[in-house]
Amino acid sequence: MKKGKKIYEGKAKIIYATSDKNLVIQYFKDDATAFNNQKKSIIEGKGVLNNRISEYILSNLSQIGIKNHLVKRLNMREQIIKLAEIIPIEFVIRNIATGSITKRLGIEDGTVLREPLIEYCLKDDALGDPLISEDHIYTFDWATRNEIEKVKKMIFRINDFMIGMFRGVGIKLIDFKLEFGRVKNNGKNEIILADEISPDTCRLWDSITEKKLDKDRFRKDLGDLIPAYTEVAKRLGILHEQSNISAVNVTKLSSVKKKSK
Ligand code: TMP
Ligand code: ASP
Repeated sequence: MKKGKKIYEGKAKIIYATSDKNLVIQYFKDDATAFNNQKKSIIEGKGVLNNRISEYILSNLSQIGIKNHLVKRLNMREQIIKLAEIIPIEFVIRNIATGSITKRLGIEDGTVLREPLIEYCLKDDALGDPLISEDHIYTFDWATRNEIEKVKKMIFRINDFMIGMFRGVGIKLIDFKLEFGRVKNNGKNEIILADEISPDTCRLWDSITEKKLDKDRFRKDLGDLIPAYTEVAKRLGILHEQSNISAVNVTKLSSVKKKSK
């Protein structure tokens, strides 16, 4: 399959066309951003780890029947994915309150929620991805009621699966963000899980120490982001226990030269 021209560049990934109009290549960058792009850095090796972790989680989700855009990982930084029309909503699922909800609603950090809570944010960087209600989605035709019903069912299954998967390796799944898209299947629209699931898009705390193993290490200037993401990959069995992936090692492993920014 031939890699074609760049068709979209986001904050952490680039999408390239391929010779198949239904498939695109998703390239994981090392760029880290937070607070709607106000804080930026390049963390060498982050893209490589997210590519592997996201591949692992999405292929496990496929096995429990959650349809998603992943076709296959191509190399250290790229995956072939199905081209989907992305629903312009970031679906945030919370099991434990932390981050924006604690500030927005004055909820105590670490509060265990009685049930998983879904929040909707409009995917619009210029507006700072504002929180919206479900009715906004229908009023402005961002998705249909039928689509949101399907998405919610998928979200709760994904959450249940991921809680168990991470619990098994001593990690608490605090919250995460998902995106969904539409693809045509025999002429009919089908909703599939899209984007990535990685420590960039999840909050993951060590079950015992509550050490943060996710992008909060960057957001809160805690440092050691690569060792934390590597720890997640090792515990999931993606990287071998003995492999000591430092930023330098990961960069060496990557065949793609990073662009300077
Ligand atoms: P929040 O507490 O900042 O709203 O974040 C909730 C979860 O969503 C957290 O796991 C981080 C993830 N997230 C993203 O993946 N992308 C984003 O743009 C934001 C704001 C959050
Ligand atoms: N990804 C978002 C940004 O780039 C926010 C975040 O993850 O905290 O600003």
